[in-house]
Amino acid sequence: MNKDNDKFFQNIISLCKRRGFVFPSSEIYGGFSAIYDYGHYGILLKNNIRDSWWKHMIQLRSDVIGLDSAIFMHPKTWVASGHVGGFNDPEVDCKKCKERFRADHLLEKFGISVDDKSPLEFLNDELNKLKEAKKLKCPNCGSTDLTEARVFSLMVKSNIGSPVGDLKDEDVVYLRPETCGGIYLDYKNTVNSIHPSIPFGIAQVGKAFRNEIVARQFIFRTREFEQMEMQYFVHPDTMKENYEKWKKIRWDWYLDNGIPEEKIRWHKHEKLAHYASEAYDIEYDFNSIGCSEVEGIHARGDWDLSQHSKFSGEDLSYLDGKTNERFVPHILETSVGLNRLMLMFLDFAYTEEKVEDEERIVLKFPKHLAPIKVAVFPLLKNKPELVSKAKEVYEQLRPSFMCEFDDNGNIGKRYRRQDEIGTPYCVTIDFDTLTDNTVTVRDRDTMKQERINIEDLKEYFNKNLEANM
Ligand code: GAP
Repeated sequence: MNKDNDKFFQNIISLCKRRGFVFPSSEIYGGFSAIYDYGHYGILLKNNIRDSWWKHMIQLRSDVIGLDSAIFMHPKTWVASGHVGGFNDPEVDCKKCKERFRADHLLEKFGISVDDKSPLEFLNDELNKLKEAKKLKCPNCGSTDLTEARVFSLMVKSNIGSPVGDLKDEDVVYLRPETCGGIYLDYKNTVNSIHPSIPFGIAQVGKAFRNEIVARQFIFRTREFEQMEMQYFVHPDTMKENYEKWKKIRWDWYLDNGIPEEKIRWHKHEKLAHYASEAYDIEYDFNSIGCSEVEGIHARGDWDLSQHSKFSGEDLSYLDGKTNERFVPHILETSVGLNRLMLMFLDFAYTEEKVEDEERIVLKFPKHLAPIKVAVFPLLKNKPELVSKAKEVYEQLRPSFMCEFDDNGNIGKRYRRQDEIGTPYCVTIDFDTLTDNTVTVRDRDTMKQERINIEDLKEYFNKNLEANM
């Protein structure tokens, strides 16, 4: 990360804390690494992003069904999926500064290719060769005193259902590392209750947990996070066409939400999981951390349903009523991190600009995603007639839009406060309002003001705050 990018990133992180978007978790106890809390504006923004995804993926489609499965699942789930045996990362510790690094990432910097199946001995042999050549150094402090690579499980354990002192391995219940596991387990219930015709999808939003080794990019990679995942069940012969269809659908979601096409790109995975036939990421060109993955689109074959069928003994095949063919559906997955998308929108929106010789910080969110849509001000705090009219307008707009009332400080300060949290419109009630029933509406981006009749405000905001989908 270069200095400008780092400064930009630090500015976002500090704004998030100062204005109540994101707080470090457990701060009064010194914090808790790679876990974050979401304050008032943060949760409003996150909910708006989630709602846009839900609308796009479920409300506007007749082939995708919603689900909210539990975080805790039968422990066999993660044996069947391969996570208990294989959801590991090889790690190396710096003995001097105590930082921890992914061993495969260290090797990749020297052009040594490593994949999921590379044995630990291979990694350690290659690391030792680099150590002997005095090339291997801690990326953080430059020390050469590094440990051997060790395997580190990303699975987070709990003792739910076994609240006893010593937790035996067989009693461990994992917190889900991805939300899709619940979709496979509820596939049969969904088919038997809703009877969808293939191809169809099941989608859900929920928390996932991973013991990430390297988690130091604010809310980009955390140990507790939210995923929005959709599993699309198809006849094996139709995977290719469905894959192309979903790549376009997901790409368009970013454009519909105001992300310019030049800010996103496809990254094709060269190393595929053994069951996968295709995997692409959508990457966003963050001003803060560079081009990085925000979403994955994966063709997973029949791996998930076949494995769960084998481990549970349940038949998870599908009978196509039209052709009378019975088969195990293949799965196409779209998977995106909600917190990571929130960072993407913050990174996209964060702007510092000069207005009449004064600096302003403004979050230029796509208007439909802004946490607060309309702020209502009386011109003067000490004029009861203005305050009561402003309160009346505020109460009138509140049922339809997330609104805020502010009478603190002068109007300029109130505008700056709303700019910093990305509020698209500020409404000011002044003395003219009392005679002609019009108010001033100020636009966040252009800062232009226009007079609008109070009766027309709702329609005006409905039109201007509408999402483009
Ligand atoms: N079910 C497939 C799956 O989980 P993944 O590539 O591991 O695939 C999908 O994760 C998405 O979930 C990523 O593109 C990212 O947006 C989000 N994600 C993964 N790990 C994350 C973490 N530790 N913190 C925040 N978001 C994460």
